[in-house]
Amino acid sequence: MHSDGPTAANLREAFAREAQSALRSLYFARRADVEGRADVASLLRAIAEGEGGHGFGHLEFLEEVGDPLAGSGDTRGNLESALVETEANAEAYAGYAAEATREKLPDAADWFSTVAAAEHAHAAQLRRLLRSVEEDARQ
Ligand SMILES: [Fe+2]
Repeated sequence: MHSDGPTAANLREAFAREAQSALRSLYFARRADVEGRADVASLLRAIAEGEGGHGFGHLEFLEEVGDPLAGSGDTRGNLESALVETEANAEAYAGYAAEATREKLPDAADWFSTVAAAEHAHAAQLRRLLRSVEEDARQ
């Protein structure tokens, strides 16, 4: 398999599908809990766990061909990859907030800004962790 071939592209798409299914299942489980359907919530959480497993399987295939979506093969590289993604997400959210403001949707703009701030906080945590891992590697 090549990382630029159709199967690798399908694995990346399948991963996005699984990630979406897993989060939607967790969201629906929360709704089921609110409606007093703990049985449904429990099943939805089990399904989310299964979707996560499928997504991990896709990443393992992608890791074999060196696809950056699967990280970089070790924790230091994975932290760098997560940091790049988190900074890109923060930038995207800032853009979404600006767009929502132009569209006169202040609640959506506030929400995007809140998430952008959370992404910046995550990026700061990742930078600290990365420094710590790099210091450990020098010792
Ligand atoms: Fe699945």
